[in-house]
Amino acid sequence: MRRPCKKAINCLQFSLASGSVVAAPIFTSFDTKAQALWGNAPLRLDHSVHQRTMFTDEGLAQIIDSLPDDLISIVTMGADQRGPRDWAYCRRNGLSGAALIESVKQGRIWINIIRIERALPEFRSLLEEIYDEIEKKAPGLGVYSKSVGLLISSPNAKVYFHADVPGQTLWQLRGEKRVYIYPDREPFLRDGDIENVIRGVTEEEIHYEPWFDDYALVMDLKPGQMLHWPLNAPHRVDNMDCMNVSITTEHWTPSIRRNFAMRYGNGLLRRFGWTPKSKNIRGPSLWAKVALTAAWRLSGQQKRNAYRRKMSYDLDPETPGLLRPIETAT
Ligand SMILES: [Fe+2]
Repeated sequence: MRRPCKKAINCLQFSLASGSVVAAPIFTSFDTKAQALWGNAPLRLDHSVHQRTMFTDEGLAQIIDSLPDDLISIVTMGADQRGPRDWAYCRRNGLSGAALIESVKQGRIWINIIRIERALPEFRSLLEEIYDEIEKKAPGLGVYSKSVGLLISSPNAKVYFHADVPGQTLWQLRGEKRVYIYPDREPFLRDGDIENVIRGVTEEEIHYEPWFDDYALVMDLKPGQMLHWPLNAPHRVDNMDCMNVSITTEHWTPSIRRNFAMRYGNGLLRRFGWTPKSKNIRGPSLWAKVALTAAWRLSGQQKRNAYRRKMSYDLDPETPGLLRPIETAT
């Protein structure tokens, strides 16, 4: 297996004063205002990760070539946020890393390499660096689990309106994108919708109305900028007319875990015909939901009701649009 990015495992700077090698700080702007806003409001900060040379075309191709297919999720999508949702999964179809990068440039796809730190030590150390700094800058967070994903996406690609389960950050490395972040409450985030996402009944789809945009915070993201937003806040992304490279992190804290348990339990109550009354993430009502959730998952119902991905296209450079529908047996 080829190991990528030997020349740039970390972004290291040579300190002329001391003659020693020191890692460049991840954040280049994280002041007391940012500390107060972290996790409580959408926040854009400056970073240095985009300066690492592992994210060149050649570096990205080597990364892809070193990974098994099951870590690489490839999707395509429609052109209109207001049109039908046509988010569809694609098979890599044996394309090399370089051919896949070329498909990104020519086509309309979004590559998401999830939990890449499990496969590549370069990303494991980057993830540690990122959260070391986050925990210093935002003390008391208590992150006990984290992961990083690599996103490589086509010019004008988009991610539809959705909500994520754990805490999230998004770091722009190449290209530009516009991110819409919506309030983390009704009507933008319906309780039943986020409960279904958390229970894995649906993937990340939640109800969207075009007028929601009037209430979104719209932020353009350039290389060297990152975003963080409140837990479960709905968001969507439009790439500008250029290939985009980003990383995204997910993290879990005790507070996020309690929110997960509350939402999961409320989703089960709703499934059984009750309207949940409480969103407390402490006290007896939470522990009752934790017990209900554990019983449900132990019974195997979680797996029986879980959303399953379906592959719709093979990537094919010989096909116009690069996507060849997968024929399904009738
Ligand atoms: Fe997201």
